[in-house]
Amino acid sequence: MTEQHFIPENFSETRPNGQVAWESPSNIALIKYWGKRKNQIPENPSISFTLSHCKTITTLSFKAKETNDTFSFDVFLDGNKNEDFKPKIQTFFERVEQYLPFIKDYHFTIETKNTFPHSSGIASSASGMSALALCLMSVEKQIMEKEVTLNVVERSYNEKYFSQKASFLARLGSGSACRSIEGDLIVWGETKVVEGSSNLFGTKYPYPVHDIFKEYQDTILLVDKGEKQVSSSVGHNLMHNHPYAQNRFQQAHDNLEKLKLILKSGDLDAFIGLVESEALTLHAMMMTSMPYFILMKPNTLKVINAIWGFREKTGLPISFTLDAGANVHVLYPKRDAAPILEFIKNELVTYCQNQHFISDQIGFGANQI
Ligand code: PMV
Repeated sequence: MTEQHFIPENFSETRPNGQVAWESPSNIALIKYWGKRKNQIPENPSISFTLSHCKTITTLSFKAKETNDTFSFDVFLDGNKNEDFKPKIQTFFERVEQYLPFIKDYHFTIETKNTFPHSSGIASSASGMSALALCLMSVEKQIMEKEVTLNVVERSYNEKYFSQKASFLARLGSGSACRSIEGDLIVWGETKVVEGSSNLFGTKYPYPVHDIFKEYQDTILLVDKGEKQVSSSVGHNLMHNHPYAQNRFQQAHDNLEKLKLILKSGDLDAFIGLVESEALTLHAMMMTSMPYFILMKPNTLKVINAIWGFREKTGLPISFTLDAGANVHVLYPKRDAAPILEFIKNELVTYCQNQHFISDQIGFGANQI
């Protein structure tokens, strides 16, 4: 499949006004996407758990306008007009315009809020961009359905097309956002290891998964709520000409192959080893880029060491992963939640800013509201 698949043919001339709303979750990668080509094409495959509680809720109001020479939109975060998001959304609109031919015909009001604090250091780009992409797909669907009822165009808005294109559009906003449309395990990036995988959109992991992973918990420790010094985009680009890039990209394919067996068997020791190695490899790539940078903070390392000590002492299957920042995602099966939460509250919260952490768990994707 190519990008062409998502360019609508015989697009309807009708422009209904209206309002749509979606809530879309964040996700946490087990095998990390780090390095991209033009148009947000990943250099390697990744796989993530979709989260459940950390989400963005976006309402999109759309009103047809007289002229169609520019993009026109206002953004509100928590009810307040927000100018900071506008450049990112403008770029997103430019990237998706050819796939959404109606986009300049409308003035959009985008009202958005997150279930987690904006200043928590949790990236809202995956949940935010996926929510916006889904809203735009609902607009497209309304336009096309008008035509279908008029019997002019027969286009099936089956669920598969809708979520594939939503994921495809979300990817153009922020790569990892394409993994937030569905759940509970999503693969993105073409690889022989997973049938049906694509560089263009996320797909549901299609193989057997042991019950132990069905209700996996993710407690996010907010070690540093500040703005990161180096954005993901800059970090991805530093993988061009990176001395370890080719080995790293190959390793992601190999790790996915290994993870497939782990997900099937429920081998938690192997899961812990693979996931923690992925997290540290991501940060090792940052530290060995030119220019190099470090996103972990002293407390990130203190948390990691405390987790290792607790695991050694208790034998409980607690592990961590990291995204492109200082916060730590603590991963564990639901059946072990009681002692692990106790440990988090007694020993790990002291490393969090204002003792702040968020309890989340694996989720099943976005919902229309
Ligand atoms: O989606 P981006 O461009 O913000 O990149 C995210 C990359 C990581 O979070 C570090 C890894 C991943 O696969 O989510």
